[in-house]
Amino acid sequence: MATIGGLAVKDVLKVERIGTHSHIRGLGLSQTLEPSPVGDGMVGQSDARRAAGLIVKMIKEGKIAGRAILIAGEPGTGKTALAMGISKALGQETPFVSMNASEIFSVEVSKTEALNQSFRKAIGVRIAEESEVLEGEVVNLEIDRPASGVGPKVGKMTLKTTDMEAIYDVGAKMSESCVKERISAGDIVQIDRATGRVTRLGRSFTRQHDFDAFASQTKFIQCPSGEIQKKSQLVHTVTIHEIDVINSRTQGYFALFTGDTGEIKPEVRDQINIKVNEWKEEGKATILPGVLFIDEVHLLDLECFSFINRALESDLAPILIMATNRPTSAVRGTELISPHGIPVDLLDRSLIIRTGKLTPEQIGHVFNLRADEEGVKLDPKALSVLTKIAGETNFRYAMQLIALGNVFRERAKKEVVGAEDIAKAYTMFIDRNRSKAYLQQHNEQYM
Ligand SMILES: Nc1ncnc2c1ncn2[C@@H]1O[C@H](COP(=O)(O)OP(=O)(O)OP(=O)(O)O)[C@@H](O)[C@H]1O
Ligand SMILES: [Mg+2]
Repeated sequence: MATIGGLAVKDVLKVERIGTHSHIRGLGLSQTLEPSPVGDGMVGQSDARRAAGLIVKMIKEGKIAGRAILIAGEPGTGKTALAMGISKALGQETPFVSMNASEIFSVEVSKTEALNQSFRKAIGVRIAEESEVLEGEVVNLEIDRPASGVGPKVGKMTLKTTDMEAIYDVGAKMSESCVKERISAGDIVQIDRATGRVTRLGRSFTRQHDFDAFASQTKFIQCPSGEIQKKSQLVHTVTIHEIDVINSRTQGYFALFTGDTGEIKPEVRDQINIKVNEWKEEGKATILPGVLFIDEVHLLDLECFSFINRALESDLAPILIMATNRPTSAVRGTELISPHGIPVDLLDRSLIIRTGKLTPEQIGHVFNLRADEEGVKLDPKALSVLTKIAGETNFRYAMQLIALGNVFRERAKKEVVGAEDIAKAYTMFIDRNRSKAYLQQHNEQYM
């Protein structure tokens, strides 16, 4: 709690929501892709995790693109959790776009356009720009104020490396940048010659004695060696979708913030594909095929599936990971019966990963991980009650009783959640089966 102008305000940053999968930190695999029984928040499912690890390895090495992977298994067996694990294991560098199949029906654009945008969000382009920079320690900086008080400021800057020293004229832009960054003698700076932008890299070690005068986060570094004038590489990573939006004449880049991109014309996309391929051939850009994850994929219809088939064949295609808990069922919108509710031609080109049921012991592990994540202390008896409930009802329902039980513990001013707290939650909130039984019993009283 802080106070601003006499008003108490809550520190919003500290309030963190705990997501269903926030305990997942990766896939919990060793260097040789062997899964540990419990690792990175993942429990059991060793075959599925091993397979997922292999996929991650191939994606990282840039060996696969345009493939489809399907994670299939009963409800609550950790399919979505596995996908989150893959996302974490891929790291920040690889684009990972996660969506629920139902999302594409709720946007203003057509289904296939929404899918297309998601596909293109999952492909990154790393663009390297070469620029000329000056890098060295500031020996002296003089910025002259114009005599009249108005007009551009100009001056001179002496830079040195361990091998040389030179004086440079400081133009209007650069002097402004120096003033803004509060550059002074002893700073190690990098100056972009084209834009005049000055970046402070740190302070010279030789100035360490005046440490007290600087903020504690000041970084002390060695004076650079060699030439002052250097070539430097600037790297940006953007997604193809972002390039689409920026170049779409009707939208402009503001649409990136609002997400209101509308339909993007196929001609724009064609142009961009050509341009990106050109950059790739000239060595200016690297394509980073990422991952598009579509959860509950059986909710897509035939039109979407045929779009996916086509999209996977284009040369700018990400890896598609799908998940479903449906056994054999009709493809949405048709009478076509197919395994997992997915047309056979897409299934044929997919690699399928299966998730199996967790043992009671493994379920107990997941409960422990969740309790830790939610900051709840569970009594061993409470844990065994939860595991039992999970076996008799369902895993998801039992998971929610942790937080509910914790509310009862708080009220009773106890340290640990006991079996009786879980029991209270169990009677106050019924699960699907008990609700169904009740409905059947009192059927005639309902409308
Ligand atoms: N093997 C596991 N390791 C760690 N956590 C797991 C594991 N399996 C499931 N969980 C956790 O259990 C909960 C339910 O799992 P999840 O949502 O991944 O199931 P699902 O297979 O996607 O189910 P559905 O078919 O209903 O979508 C989640 O909070 C998930 O993080
Ligand atoms: Mg799921």
